[in-house]
Amino acid sequence: MIITTVKELREYLGAQRTSGKSIGFVPTMGFLHEGHLSLIRRAKAENDTVVVSDFVNPTQFAPNEDFESYPRNIERDEQLATGAGADVVFYPSAEEIYPRGSSTFVEVAGDITRVLCGASRPAHFKGVTTVVAILFNIVQPRRAYFGQKDAQQAAILIKMVADLYMDIELIVCPIVREEDGLAMSSRNTYLSATERAQAVILNKALREGQAAFEKGEDNVEKLIRQITGKINEAPLACIDYVSIYAYPSLKTIETVSDKALAAVAVRFGKTRLIDNIILEK
Ligand code: PAJ
Repeated sequence: MIITTVKELREYLGAQRTSGKSIGFVPTMGFLHEGHLSLIRRAKAENDTVVVSDFVNPTQFAPNEDFESYPRNIERDEQLATGAGADVVFYPSAEEIYPRGSSTFVEVAGDITRVLCGASRPAHFKGVTTVVAILFNIVQPRRAYFGQKDAQQAAILIKMVADLYMDIELIVCPIVREEDGLAMSSRNTYLSATERAQAVILNKALREGQAAFEKGEDNVEKLIRQITGKINEAPLACIDYVSIYAYPSLKTIETVSDKALAAVAVRFGKTRLIDNIILEK
C-alpha cells in the first residue's frame, strides 16, 4: 500500500499502535535494491508493522549534485518493498515533508559530521539528520533500520538519537554486495560497463587493507597508502578520500588499536561511490 500524506499515514499508524502493534521503519530514497530489502526483511522479522519511506530528500543534495537525475520508480519500489514485508510505502512530495519551506534544522556538530563525506559534501548530513528527524516524528517507530554501507550516516544518526533522547532503537545492518564485491547502491545504475567493471576496486582495496591489518599492520598512514595504491590501479578511478578513523566516534587516530572504520569515496566519471570496512582487533 502506498500512502502519500502525513495525515493518512498518522491515521493508519495510530490504529496500529492502539491495537498494540510495534512499528519498524526503514527510511530510503527509493530505487530499491537488495541492500534496502535486507533492511525491510529484518524490520519485518522484528516488528509487527513495517513502514518504508521512499523520498528523494532535496535538502541533502548540493545544487551541483544528482537530485534531479536520481533514479526513481515508485511502482517497482512498492512491489519490491511489499515482497520483502513492508506494510506501507510512504511516498510523500517535497511539499508534504517541507510544507512551510525549510527553516528548522537538526544538525549534529563536531568531527563526526566534518570528516569523510562531510568534507566533500558540507551540507549533506544536516539535510539527512533533518529529514530523518522529521520522518521519525511522523512515523514514531519503535525501531529504525540503517545500512553499514553509509557508516558515517549511521554513526551520526545514532548520535542524534542519543543526544535528543529520541525513544527509538537504531539497528545497523551489514553491507549487501554484488557477487563481485561491489556494494549495492541505487547510484550503480549510472555506471558505464567499463566503469562498472573497474568499480569492484573499492572493495578489493579495502579487503587488501583489512588483510594487511590482520597480518599486523596497524599504522593508519601505511594502511591508507596501501588502499590508495590499489584503487589507483583502476585507470578510471578518481579518489575523493581514503580514510581511517576510530569508529563510531570518527576521531582521528594514528594507529588502529580498537575498532576503526576504513572508508573510501571514489568517482568514476560523474558517479561517486562509497564503501567501507570495519577494522577490529
Ligand atoms: P538510501 O541511499 O536509499 O539508503 C537507505 C538505507 O539503505 C540506508 O540506511 C543505507 O545505508 C541502506 N543501504 C543502501 N545500500 C545498502 C547496501 N548495499 N547494503 C546495506 N544497506 C544499504 O541513505 C539514504 O537513502 C538517505 O540518506 C536517508 C537515510 C533515507 C535520508 O534521506
